[in-house]
Amino acid sequence: MEALKNLMRADFTEEEVTRIIRDAVADGIVLDTWMNSEQEEYISAPAMDWLADALATRIAPAVADGPPLLGRLEDVLEAVREIVLGTALFHAQRAKGKRAVDHRDAEAALARVEDFVAHQAGGWVSLRVLYLVITAHEDLSALAYYGSMRQDDFLLGTLHRPWSEGVFHGQLAHYRRLGLVDVQYRGQGETVMLTPAGHTLLTQLRRTLEASGEFAWRSEAQRWTIFGELDYDAVLPHVFPDATRLTRDFLGQLAIRSGMHVLEVGCGTGRVTLDLGLHRQVGGTGRLVGLDPSRSLLNQLEAKRQAAGIGHVETVQGVAEHLPFADQTFDACVAVASLHFTNVEQAVQEMVRVTKPGGLVAALCPPPQTDFREIPMVALWFRPLAELAETWGLPFGERTGLAPGALEQTFRRHLSSVAYSRPTSTMSASDPEAFLAFVLKGGAFYQNLLCRVPYADRWDLIRQLERRGRDLIRHTTSEEQVATLRNEAVVGFV
Ligand SMILES: C[S@@+](CC[C@H](N)C(=O)[O-])C[C@H]1O[C@@H](n2cnc3c(N)ncnc32)[C@H](O)[C@@H]1O
Repeated sequence: MEALKNLMRADFTEEEVTRIIRDAVADGIVLDTWMNSEQEEYISAPAMDWLADALATRIAPAVADGPPLLGRLEDVLEAVREIVLGTALFHAQRAKGKRAVDHRDAEAALARVEDFVAHQAGGWVSLRVLYLVITAHEDLSALAYYGSMRQDDFLLGTLHRPWSEGVFHGQLAHYRRLGLVDVQYRGQGETVMLTPAGHTLLTQLRRTLEASGEFAWRSEAQRWTIFGELDYDAVLPHVFPDATRLTRDFLGQLAIRSGMHVLEVGCGTGRVTLDLGLHRQVGGTGRLVGLDPSRSLLNQLEAKRQAAGIGHVETVQGVAEHLPFADQTFDACVAVASLHFTNVEQAVQEMVRVTKPGGLVAALCPPPQTDFREIPMVALWFRPLAELAETWGLPFGERTGLAPGALEQTFRRHLSSVAYSRPTSTMSASDPEAFLAFVLKGGAFYQNLLCRVPYADRWDLIRQLERRGRDLIRHTTSEEQVATLRNEAVVGFV
């Protein structure tokens, strides 16, 4: 408790810190250590110039007027800069479908940050707390991961915070004063390592980030942003070779007729809406709306729709948990391979709300708690990830599916005449590149593990997995490269 207060140089309780971070997540304030790393590539020079100017002329005077707890002005400005850029990157990606920040995005992000600060009792101190908790977690976590780090690497953030500008002399001195790290002379020079007090604080920081939903948010943000960078349509047939058959069988069971108003929740690139012909089932006299949180996937759907000259399909950006439609808008509401990414209780309630009385609500989902290691080759392949999970005492394969029974029970609670079945299909790792892209980029699975690996090693680990996959494909039989999935299909009526 004291260690956290000392770290922040502010008198906040763990509950208060958790609340600040939870508020930041809710307000879309992002200091994301995946996206910040390549910011120069994605942020236009005018945006960078505009931000540098705004920090000097607008933020510096505001911060200088604040309470003295904030630390050195240049450190505070660097924190604001990183948070504004992370926020701008995230929201630009969500709005445009690509990571390209212009000066208007930077302006909007700074306005969002200022708004957050204005609503926090601690003002700029709260933003500083957010920054310190996330960056101290990165620093201490990296030291715990490596055991020790060359002082130069620590100071420059080479391995763990390459997106930060400047040298972390201040932080290192602060951590040493608090007894969190030790610096010793080893063969190759000064070496930094974590003390027992540092380990204790790291545990506390993890607890805070977990409790505030920040870790969960990172996975979610990752899925929404990087997901769109996967060539979903090209990858899917390699990983799920009979997905088309499975989905067609499912759609065939639904009494969707010409002239109906239909919503597809989590439509992605339009595989169901366009490629598998849901638009034909609905016909030109009907209305078909595809909803998805990912702008880049919706852009792909739009491009296909225009190329095919299909007029009666609309797209809407949004999430299943908060459908942007009035009550009783649709005759049918379907979700294919998307509800396992949602809060299923909220999503189903929303689907029921927007469907007319007597209308149908249906979902097809992968099996509950799918563990990719059901493919024998993957059990060997993903061993480095499993070992990390074991080292950290974390569940392996969490968030890769709904809880057993959740889909059926939720439907039974909110709908009548519910029919539930377990149709089978195949999952294949025979194209390891496609499989890994799907798992890491597509579903953004294993983020709970990857977000604890320092930046440089995260990419090393991914490259190691790529090599391991290429190797294993030569040493396993085709039977060992596949598994049968017992999916979940459910239909009910409002
Ligand atoms: C595996 S894809 C399925 C896409 C499409 N239905 C299909 O069958 O090809 C999962 C989709 O769920 C979307 N998704 C993720 N979180 C969501 C949420 N909270 N609400 C709605 N859709 C979501 C993703 O953006 C993605 O397009």
